[in-house]
Amino acid sequence: MKITGPIVLPAAAVLATNPLLPRQSNVTDYNSAPPNLTTLGNASLFETWRPRAHFLPAYGSIGDPCMHYTDPSTGLFHVGYLHEGASGATTSDLVTYTDLNPNSEPFIRAGGINDHVAVFDGSVIEKGINGTPTLLYTSVNYLPIQWTIRYTKGSETQSLAVATDGGRNFTKLEHGPVIPSPPFAYNVTGFRDPYVFQNPNFDQMLESSNGTWYTIISGGIHGEGPSLFLYRQYEQDPYFENWEFLGQWWSEEANSTWTEAGWAGRWGFNFEVGNLFALDSNGYNAEGEVFVTLGAEWSYKPIVPQVSDNREMLWAAGSHKFVDGNLQFVPSMAGRLDAGRSAYAAAGKHLPASSQAGQSSGAPDRFISYLWLTGDFYGTLDFPTTQQNWSGSLLLPRELSVGYINVVDNALAWEKGSWRVDSQNDNGILTLATLRQQIAREPLAAFQQNATNSTTQSGGSISSSRTFDRSPRSKHYMMTASISFTTRTNDDLKAGFSILSGPNENTNIYYQFSNESLIIDRSNSSAVSATTSGINTDNESGKFRLFDVPTANGTSIETLNLTIVVDGGVVEVHANDRFAVSTWVWSWYEDSTDVGFFVEGGEVEFGEVKIWEGLVDAWPGRNSTS
Ligand SMILES: *[C@@H]1O[C@H](CO)[C@@H](O)[C@H](O)[C@H]1NC(C)=O
Ligand SMILES: *[C@@H]1O[C@H](CO)[C@@H](O)[C@H](O)[C@H]1NC(C)=O
Ligand SMILES: *[C@@H]1O[C@H](CO)[C@@H](O)[C@H](O)[C@H]1NC(C)=O
Ligand SMILES: *[C@@H]1O[C@H](CO)[C@@H](O)[C@H](O)[C@H]1NC(C)=O
Ligand SMILES: *[C@@H]1O[C@H](CO)[C@@H](O)[C@H](O)[C@H]1NC(C)=O
Ligand SMILES: *[C@@H]1O[C@H](CO)[C@@H](O)[C@H](O)[C@H]1NC(C)=O
Ligand SMILES: *[C@@H]1O[C@H](CO)[C@@H](O)[C@H](O)[C@H]1NC(C)=O
Ligand SMILES: *[C@@H]1O[C@H](CO)[C@@H](O)[C@H](O)[C@H]1NC(C)=O
Ligand SMILES: *[C@@H]1O[C@H](CO)[C@@H](O)[C@H](O)[C@H]1NC(C)=O
Ligand SMILES: *[C@@H]1O[C@H](CO)[C@@H](O)[C@H](O)[C@H]1NC(C)=O
Ligand SMILES: *[C@@H]1O[C@H](CO)[C@@H](O)[C@H](O)[C@H]1NC(C)=O
Ligand SMILES: *[C@@H]1O[C@H](CO)[C@@H](O)[C@H](O)[C@H]1NC(C)=O
Repeated sequence: MKITGPIVLPAAAVLATNPLLPRQSNVTDYNSAPPNLTTLGNASLFETWRPRAHFLPAYGSIGDPCMHYTDPSTGLFHVGYLHEGASGATTSDLVTYTDLNPNSEPFIRAGGINDHVAVFDGSVIEKGINGTPTLLYTSVNYLPIQWTIRYTKGSETQSLAVATDGGRNFTKLEHGPVIPSPPFAYNVTGFRDPYVFQNPNFDQMLESSNGTWYTIISGGIHGEGPSLFLYRQYEQDPYFENWEFLGQWWSEEANSTWTEAGWAGRWGFNFEVGNLFALDSNGYNAEGEVFVTLGAEWSYKPIVPQVSDNREMLWAAGSHKFVDGNLQFVPSMAGRLDAGRSAYAAAGKHLPASSQAGQSSGAPDRFISYLWLTGDFYGTLDFPTTQQNWSGSLLLPRELSVGYINVVDNALAWEKGSWRVDSQNDNGILTLATLRQQIAREPLAAFQQNATNSTTQSGGSISSSRTFDRSPRSKHYMMTASISFTTRTNDDLKAGFSILSGPNENTNIYYQFSNESLIIDRSNSSAVSATTSGINTDNESGKFRLFDVPTANGTSIETLNLTIVVDGGVVEVHANDRFAVSTWVWSWYEDSTDVGFFVEGGEVEFGEVKIWEGLVDAWPGRNSTS
C-alpha cells in the first residue's frame, strides 16, 4: 500500500478550509463531550493520540516501512519509511531514534527520469556499489496501479540509488531502471517492492557463486493469482545493473487461502511488500528455515481505484522444490503477522550482533521487523488528519525467530494452522514449530526500567468484571498478565481486560474459546465516533489457539500470556510470543484511563498483572510541543 498524495486527500482537509464553516478553534476539553473535530484548528489534536515510544515522522503521514539497513561504517540501524518519497532515522538501541534529516525530510524523492510519479518500497544492499549502501527500489511513472484494473506497461520499474552523506541522501544513478519491466508476457497485477537478500542455500540450489544477491519482487498475474518473482544478480556484477529472472518463486491461486479455518487470512489477488529471510530459534540465520512476510490484497473497492481496505499481513515458512527447472517455495505453515486490520506492510532486516544495538544488548544476529499501522484505513477514512497534523505510525520493532512448543498429541495440534508438527515424541507429546515474534528486547526492557510509575495488581479466580485497585493515570503504559482457563467448551466465556475505560468510554480485550479468537472490542471506545466521521470503532479479531499442554501430573490448557502496550492512540496486544493484534483506540475523555479485569460467562484464574507507566520518548532530539 502506498500513500500517493492526491488520491487520498481526506475530505476533512477540504472542509477545514471552507470559509462558511464556524471559525476554527483549539478548544480541546477532554472532560466534556467532543465537538465535531473537523471544526477544530489545524494541528490542534497533535498530541491527543500521539504515541511517545513508537516510530513516526515529525509530522505528516507515514506509509510503508522499508529500506532498513545497518550502516557497516557506523553500526547504526537505519529505519526507513515512505514519506514524501522515503525518509528515515537511525537508532543504536531500537528505543530512541534520530531523524536523518530535519523535520523528517526524505532521503529520496520522486521526480527523476525513472520515477516521475512516486518512490515505492525498496531494500538496501549494505555494501553495494563501491562498498556503499545501495538501494533497489520501485520507481513509478504511471498511476493508478491496482490488481482490479489493467496494468499500465512501464508503470513500475526497479531502480538504484546510492547513499551519500551517511544515508541522509540516496542519489539516483544516472541510468535507466535495472529491472525495466516484468518478465516478458506476464500480465501482471503489480510488480514492486524488491527485497534483496543473500542465502547460501539458494547459492547451492541455484548453483550461484557464494554471496550472490537475489531479490524477490511482489505482485501477481491477472486471472491467475498473487506471486513473488525471483531474480539473481547477474555474474556478481558489482554495479548491480543486471538481474536475471529465475521464475515465479511462489504463486498461489487467486483469492485462495492456506486454510479456510482462518488461521492465515487469504492469499488475495496480489502480493505486496514480500520479505524473504531465514531464521532459527535464536533469530536470523542465513542457513536456517526460510520465512516470508507479505501483504495480500483482496478487497474490491471500486470507488477509490488505487486503495483497498481489505488486506492481510501474513507470514509463511517452508521448503523448496524444482518445477520445470525453477526453484519454487512450498509453504509448510502460514499465519498472520498481526491480526489488526490496519496493520500492514511489514518490513524487516537482518540486524547483526555486531551492530551498535546488538553489541549493547548482547543480542545475537536478529531479524527485526516493523509493521505499519495506517491511521486512516489505507486512505479510505475521512479521519480529521488536518487537525491532527500526522497520520499513522509504525508498530514497535519485533524480533522474529522459530518458536517451538510442546503440546499434547491431539486433534488440536494436527489441524492445518499457523504451526507445523516438528516432531512426535513417544510419550504422547508433540513439538510444534511456529513463527515466534516478540517486541524487541531493548524497548521491552526500557519500558520497565524507565517507568515513571509501576503497579502490581494481584489476580486470583475471577468471574465478573471489575476495575483494578489502581489504574494508570495516563494513556502511555505497558502491562503484562496471564490468564488460565480450565475448560475450552464454555462458549459463553470471555476473559481479558478493559483498558482506556471510564464513565464514558471503554475498550475490552478478551479471549473466547467459542471461535478461538482474541478480540479488541472497540464499539464503545471513542465518544468522538458520534461527532466526527473517520473514527473507526469496528472490532478487531484474530484466530489464536491455546493448545493442551503437558503438566507435572496431567495436562492443562496452555496459559494465555498477554503483553499490552497502550501508547496514546496505539494499542498493541501480544500473546504467547506468537500472536499479535494491533489497532487504534481513539478514546477522548481524560478519565478514560481505567484498567480492569473483564470476565463474562464463567470463571478464570488471573495471574499477577504488572503495569509500567510512562514508556519512553523515542524521539529525544525532536522539538516536541509536549
Ligand atoms: C490548515 O490546513 C489546510 C490543509 O493542510 C491548509 O490548506 C490551510 O491553509 C491551513 N490553515 C491554516 C490557518 O494554517
Ligand atoms: C492551535 O494549535 C496549534 C498547535 O499548537 C497552533 O499552531 C495554532 O496556532 C492553534 N490555533 C488556534 C486558532 O489557536
Ligand atoms: C540528493 O542529492 C542529489 C544530488 O546532489 C540531489 O539531486 C537530490 O535532490 C538529493 N535528494 C534529496 C532527497 O535531497
Ligand atoms: C491483462 O489482464 C487484463 C485484466 O484482466 C485484461 O484486460 C487484458 O486483456 C490482459 N492482457 C493481455 C495481453 O492478456
Ligand atoms: C561456498 O560456500 C559453501 C558453504 O559455505 C562451501 O562449502 C563452498 O566451498 C563455497 N564455495 C566456494 C566456491 O567458495
Ligand atoms: C474472495 O473470497 C472470499 C471468501 O470466499 C469472498 O468472500 C470474496 O468475495 C472473494 N473476493 C472476490 C473479489 O471474489
Ligand atoms: C503539519 O504541520 C506542518 C508544520 O506546521 C505543515 O507544514 C504541514 O503542512 C502540516 N501537515 C498536515 C498533514 O497537516
Ligand atoms: C503511582 O500510581 C498510583 C496509583 O495511580 C498513585 O497513587 C501514585 O501517586 C503514583 N505515583 C506516581 C509517582 O505517579
Ligand atoms: C462534522 O462536520 C463536518 C463539516 O461541518 C460535516 O460534514 C460532518 O457531517 C459532521 N459530522 C457529523 C458526524 O456530524
Ligand atoms: C496437579 O498439579 C497442580 C500443581 O502443579 C495442582 O494444582 C493440581 O491440583 C494437581 N492436579 C491433580 C489432579 O492432582
Ligand atoms: C507465560 O509467562 C510466564 C511468566 O512470565 C512464563 O513462566 C510462561 O512460560 C509463559 N507461558 C507462555 C505460554 O508463554
Ligand atoms: C530513561 O530514564 C533515564 C533516567 O531518567 C533518562 O535519562 C533517559 O533519557 C530515559 N530514556 C528514555 C529512552 O526515555
